[in-house]
Amino acid sequence: MCGIVGYIGKRRVVPIIIEGLKRLEYRGYDSAGIVYMQDGKLEKHRCEGKLVNLEELMDDIETASRAGLGHTRWATHGAPSEANAHPHSDCTGEIVIVHNGIIENYHSLREELQSKGHHFSSETDTEVLAHLIEEMLDGDIAKAVRQAVSHVEGSYALGVMWTGEPDRLIAVRNQSPLVLGVKEGGGSFMASDIPALLPYTKDVIFLDDQEMAVLKKDSLSVCRVDNGEKVEKEIETIDWNAGMAEKAGYKHFMLKEIFEQPQAILNTVRGRFDAETGKISLPEVLLSDEELAGIKRISLVACGTSWHAALVAKYWLEKWAAIPTEVDIASEFRYRRLLLDEHTLVVPISQSGETADTLAGMRLAKSLKARIIAICNVVGSTVTREADGTIYTHAGPEIGVASTKAFTSQLVALFLLTMKIAQAKKMISGEESAALCNVLIDLPEILEKEIPRIQEEMDVISEEFVRCRDFLYLGRGANFPIALEGALKLKEISYIHAEGYAAGELKHGPIALIDKDMPVLALVPKDPVYKKVISNVEEVKARHGRIILVGTEGDEDLRRISDHVIYLPEIHEDLNPILYTIPLQLLAYKIANLRGCDVDQPRNLAKSVTVE
Ligand code: F6R
Repeated sequence: MCGIVGYIGKRRVVPIIIEGLKRLEYRGYDSAGIVYMQDGKLEKHRCEGKLVNLEELMDDIETASRAGLGHTRWATHGAPSEANAHPHSDCTGEIVIVHNGIIENYHSLREELQSKGHHFSSETDTEVLAHLIEEMLDGDIAKAVRQAVSHVEGSYALGVMWTGEPDRLIAVRNQSPLVLGVKEGGGSFMASDIPALLPYTKDVIFLDDQEMAVLKKDSLSVCRVDNGEKVEKEIETIDWNAGMAEKAGYKHFMLKEIFEQPQAILNTVRGRFDAETGKISLPEVLLSDEELAGIKRISLVACGTSWHAALVAKYWLEKWAAIPTEVDIASEFRYRRLLLDEHTLVVPISQSGETADTLAGMRLAKSLKARIIAICNVVGSTVTREADGTIYTHAGPEIGVASTKAFTSQLVALFLLTMKIAQAKKMISGEESAALCNVLIDLPEILEKEIPRIQEEMDVISEEFVRCRDFLYLGRGANFPIALEGALKLKEISYIHAEGYAAGELKHGPIALIDKDMPVLALVPKDPVYKKVISNVEEVKARHGRIILVGTEGDEDLRRISDHVIYLPEIHEDLNPILYTIPLQLLAYKIANLRGCDVDQPRNLAKSVTVE
């Protein structure tokens, strides 16, 4: 949500900012803008809509400026328009600001500033900060920014420039991500996320909440916002490369990321278990086997697709580790009475590690003394820095807004955690867990073969269903959350209304929807609830629903009761949720593509949901 890029150094700033903003497009936005220092003045250009509009605008402008800020805005306060696009200025136009987050007390601040004679030119919450800084400014921009933010409630990542000190950019962070880039030989960067920095540097500094950085062309310093005290920050080297954040010949990032799942799964499993003994090695968990064995309850907290991963893990944790496991949507978790203590393990699951509700839930759990082990894909993200330990998924950058490889690798990480706890509790033999983990190791090879085949089958099926208005997905057991995930994938990228149901729930309401126009996709692997799901499918067939089944290779019975069958190889039933996700991702992708939807950046959605 919103993207910030800033640079000061020896190179021309405009191409760096435009390229950086492109690499943040996945975050979601509806307007864009840029500001740079030119002959002692700040030149600002903004436009509504996609970045290409800003690029075209900049094509006609010659500048050799070496310092500037760029922004993509995802509207919260005020419609997407040029006037509301960032950067925003104070009354004099000598201070500019870009902002990601929400200023919660902007209304009262705005009234106060207006009563002092400040004139506002946008409807945004952000603009109050530019005027507040103007109000505080007394020859030192860093000091003025620190004073200004002390009046602000809410979340913010800020980039600020002032004509009075043209040799510096100011960066501030509070509850919205901001990462700094340092380059040997000069040049300092700021960005909302790492992909924007990758073409220039892999050496980064993660700002923490309430920290401010002063960026100059050949140096960078960080201090506390509240007292101005210097903070020594560690430079971390990112092992992603710029190519990982590019499409590599695929039409969309989403398709590329679906095809990257074998590698992502391998990266998640690699080095984490012994193929002979089955022993799981997850030193990141930071709890001894005795401590793990002493856990009385597990609470999984996440949003969206990550929440679906949590729902699957509940089946695993209760089956193999015999620990009562609750699953919460983070935005609900944080507003209910929580009965957590030091014997509860709370597992926040987040691809980005920046989701506001998940973070808030995690902080709440921490304040109640629960142990926190996160599952996350983004090294250095806020969740990982605040959790007691993090199991990284190592899936590589996920740029498509719809989560695919992040989801399947979250499942793998959660399965490994399940095995780890089950082993600590001596609930599973080495032999049994070795057999299960060896399936995980074989899975990438299976997927390498299956993904291209399923893709071809989906070409046909998607043509048939491209014009449908609704879709039902059914599953039981650990595949019920996969039905939810299939429905979410379809609705978010194709805008077709889709619902996932536990198949047994069908006759308690949704069956009323079934007629010849209702497509129903059911997951029917040969597992202990197979016959139950088949009965539910028969109920659909009796009402003339159009049926797509995803089931086990060789199960010819499926053809009798369906319009289409997608066969998948037989693997251990517990790991089916990972395998059965793939056709659902591809069906959603193909349908959305045929409908001409913007698959990587669906309307109204943002990759990183950094506001509540
Ligand atoms: C859907 C999707 C979202 C995210 C959700 C949580 O495809 O990607 O539902 O799963 O916004 O995001 P993270 O995992 O970054 O906390």
